[in-house]
Amino acid sequence: MMDANALQRSTEALDLVDPRLVSLTDPSGAAAEQFRMLHLRLDRARELRPIAVVAMTSAVAGEGKSLTAANLAACAARRGRRAVLIDCDFRRPAVARLFGVEARGGLAAVLGGQLNAAAAIVAGPSNLRLLPAGEVSDDPAGLFSGKGFISLLDELRAANDEIYLDLPPILPFADALVAAGAADGVVVVVRNGQTPAEQVEEAVASLTGMPLLGCVLTACAEGAAAYRKYYARK
Ligand SMILES: Nc1ncnc2c1ncn2[C@@H]1O[C@H](COP(=O)(O)OP(=O)(O)OP(=O)(O)O)[C@@H](O)[C@H]1O
Ligand SMILES: [Mg+2]
Repeated sequence: MMDANALQRSTEALDLVDPRLVSLTDPSGAAAEQFRMLHLRLDRARELRPIAVVAMTSAVAGEGKSLTAANLAACAARRGRRAVLIDCDFRRPAVARLFGVEARGGLAAVLGGQLNAAAAIVAGPSNLRLLPAGEVSDDPAGLFSGKGFISLLDELRAANDEIYLDLPPILPFADALVAAGAADGVVVVVRNGQTPAEQVEEAVASLTGMPLLGCVLTACAEGAAAYRKYYARK
């Protein structure tokens, strides 16, 4: 049971989130249902081996990584999982803006040794924990290759069920590959009708040896709506 103050806090938190976080803002809609299906598929993969840290990446910029990671993490939190979303994209950070929270040093300060994880993590809606990116001047890949990132993930594994990483794209930068190497599973986000197949192939090839879980196709809203219509008519 939620007390009045807690209810007020959760409503306020939702006022600040980006409406595209449909797992929170429109949980009964068709798009939120797609994220629940994705989460269920991850659960099925978890039956075969433990997968706590899931990294979202893509071949190039703007394919929908951040919204996929954020909606999936929010979906996990709504299902009662202890979930953390870490913004690992220092060049185009999204988590703080999407959830309307302050960055407060973020991952950059944790990896730089200036802040501990507990102090950097911000409370989000539905008990989702958020670790915004913060600011880093140069060489983000260097930050991920140090021992700090692995120790941070180990610390978070102990207190959480699911940890989602919002990574930069693979082809233009080294960071994504280095950070993906620390994950238990990697999901490649592909923007439907936009990313050339050769770029997706090149990105997937560069993940060789990493635990690739599968692909998520974004910008397919009509498909989901059509399935619903079909179901409603039956
Ligand atoms: N599933 C989706 N269907 C349709 N549009 C989407 C979807 N996911 C994201 N978008 C749109 O695509 C654009 C990029 O989304 P997002 O910021 O999540 O991508 P990204 O891969 O994280 O980008 P970047 O490489 O800049 O970090 C936004 O305009 C967003 O609204
Ligand atoms: Mg992004």
